[in-house]
Amino acid sequence: MNKLTETMVVYAFKMDKENVKRIFSIPQEITHFTSSAQIARIIAKKRNIKESLATATALVHDIYRIKTGINENHAVLGYELAKAFLEENSEFSNEDIEKIAVAVKNHSKKDQIGNPLEELIKDVDVFDSYFYDIKKDNKFYRDRFYKVVNELNLPEGEYYY
Ligand SMILES: [Fe+2]
Repeated sequence: MNKLTETMVVYAFKMDKENVKRIFSIPQEITHFTSSAQIARIIAKKRNIKESLATATALVHDIYRIKTGINENHAVLGYELAKAFLEENSEFSNEDIEKIAVAVKNHSKKDQIGNPLEELIKDVDVFDSYFYDIKKDNKFYRDRFYKVVNELNLPEGEYYY
C-alpha cells in the first residue's frame, strides 16, 4: 500500500479523538479520501498526469474538514494544512507540495475550470461523492460526473445510489 495513504488514515484516526462536531464522521472521511485516491490513480493514467501527485492530492484534499469537522471553506483553509502535512510526511519537492496545496485550495470551485491537477481532484471528488448520493442535484456536479463516466467509457444511465 502507498505509504502516504497509511499516514493519512492514521492522521484521520488521530483526529477522531478530537472532540469536535463533524459534518461527516471520520469513517466516512476515510472511506471518501481512500476511494478518491484510487479513482485519482485511474484518472491520472487517463489524463497523463503524474500519478503520485494525483493520489496525494486526493488523500489530503479534505484535510481541514478532517481536522476541524468543519465543511465551510475547507478547501481554502486546507491549503496550509495540506502543505504542512506533506512537508512532514512525504518526499515531494517544495514545488510539488505547492502544486498539491493549490489544488486542495481550489477543489471546491466545481463551477470553474482550473489547471489539470485541480480539474482532476474536482472530478475525482465529484465522481466518488456521487456514489454516496451527495449533491446529485447540482448541475456542475452532474456535468463533471457524466464527463468522467464518458471518459472511462462507462455506460450512460442512472448512477444515483
Ligand atoms: Fe472531497
